[in-house]
Amino acid sequence: MSPRPQTYDVVIVGAGAAGMMCAIEAGRRGRRVLVVDHARAPGEKIRISGGGRCNFTNLDAGRTDRLLGANPRFAASALGCYTPADFIARVDKAGIAWHEKTLGQLFCDDSAKQIVRMLTDDMRDVGAELRLGTAVETLERSPGGFALTLSDGSTVSCASLVVASGGKSIPKMGATGWGYDVARRFGLTLTETRPALVPLTFEAGLLEQMTPLAGVAVDAVVTAGKARFEEAILFTHRGLSGPAILQISSYWREGEAITVAMAPGVPVLERLKARKAENGGKQAVHTALSAIVPRRLAETLTAREGANGKLAEVGDKVLARLEAAVNAWTVKPVGSEGYRTAEVTLGGVSTDDLDQRTMEAKSVPGLFFIGEVVDITGWLGGYNFQWAWSSGWAAGQAC
Ligand code: FDA
Repeated sequence: MSPRPQTYDVVIVGAGAAGMMCAIEAGRRGRRVLVVDHARAPGEKIRISGGGRCNFTNLDAGRTDRLLGANPRFAASALGCYTPADFIARVDKAGIAWHEKTLGQLFCDDSAKQIVRMLTDDMRDVGAELRLGTAVETLERSPGGFALTLSDGSTVSCASLVVASGGKSIPKMGATGWGYDVARRFGLTLTETRPALVPLTFEAGLLEQMTPLAGVAVDAVVTAGKARFEEAILFTHRGLSGPAILQISSYWREGEAITVAMAPGVPVLERLKARKAENGGKQAVHTALSAIVPRRLAETLTAREGANGKLAEVGDKVLARLEAAVNAWTVKPVGSEGYRTAEVTLGGVSTDDLDQRTMEAKSVPGLFFIGEVVDITGWLGGYNFQWAWSSGWAAGQAC
C-alpha cells in the first residue's frame, strides 16, 4: 500500500530567487508551504551572480522598457506592488551592506551568500519546508488541486502548485526547462525560447585575425537594429563579450550584423590627421591610434587596414578607413555561446495565459508560474532578480 500523501497548501518547485520569495510570502500568510529543488543547495544562481556579490536589483527596475518579451507591460503590476525599494528595505533589515556600482545597479558589499542566507532564514522563520536533492517524478491534477510524487519516494498533495524552476541557462547548475513542459501539459502557450545575455561568437577567419585581442576590453557603443548600449566590450577567444555585448545579444538575431564604436564620440580621423601634421608625421600610425584605443587594438586594426608605417607614409583615405574600423565596425556574429553561458532565457510561458496580479494560469486555477520561466526577461544589471522577487511576491499573496 502506498503511504498517505503529505498535504500542503502550496508546493513550489524551484528554490531560486522567485521560489524562495514566494515561499516566504505564502508562509507569512499562514499557508503550509513545501519547496522542492533537485539541486543540493538553494539559490545557486544568486550565489554566483554579480561576480559573487549579487546585483540584486536596479534602481530603475520598475521600468518595463528595460524588459523583453511579447508583452513587457505585463510585469508592471508585480513590479509596482513589490518594488526595488521594497527589496532594498528587506536587505537593510537583514543588515546586509550594499552599494550602487553603476547605472543604478545595486550589489552586496561582501557576498551574494548573504542574500541566500536572508531568504533561507526568512523561509525557516515562516515555517516553509525546503526539500533539496528532490525532483518531481509525476504530477497530476487532483480534485483538490495537484498530486505529485517526488524522488524521495513521498507523495504530496497541494491546492496550489507554483512553478519557479527557472529557464534553460547554465544546465550544469540544474536548469532543465521542466517548467515549460508543465506549461505545455496544462495547455498554456509558450513563446520561443533562446539564450540571452550571452557572449557572441565569430567565424574562424575573423577569430584568427582577432586572436591577439583576446582579453582586451574597451568602452564602446554597440547597436543592433534599434537597440543601442554604451558599456564595455571584451574580446574573447570565441568572439565578443562584456556588458554591452551581453545586452545587445538579447536583441540580436542570427544573420544580423552588429555595429561597434570603440572610441565613441572621438573624431578619430581628425586626431590622426592632427598628429600627422606634427613633427613631419614621423610617429607610427599604431602609436598615434593607441592614444585613442588600447595599444593591442590599435596594432591589430592598423595591420588589418594596411596602415603599418609612419603617419607621413599613409594617405588620408587609409586613415579614414581606420576611423571606420574603430568607430563603425560592422560585424556579423555567427552565433552565441548558447545556454552554456547565457545568464538568462528569453521567452517562455506566455503572459497572455497568466493573471498579471497573481501569476496564476487563467485556465488552470491553482497553477502559478513565476520568475525566469515566464516570458519576461530583463536587461543586465539587476532587472532579472527584481522580476524574480516581484513575481514571486505577487504569487505569494495569492497561492
Ligand atoms: P532560478 O534559475 O534562480 O531557480 C530555479 C530553481 O529551480 C533552481 O534552483 C533549479 O535547481 C530548480 N529546478 C529547475 N528544474 C527543476 C526540476 N525539474 N525539479 C526541481 N527543481 C528544479 N540577474 C540579476 O538580476 N543580477 C545578477 O547579478 C545576475 N547575475 C547572473 C549571473 C549568472 C552567471 C547567471 C547564470 C544569471 C545571472 N542573473 C542575474 C540572472 C538570474 O540569476 C535569474 O534571472 C534568476 O536566478 C531567475 O530566478 P528564478 O527563481 O526564476 O530561477
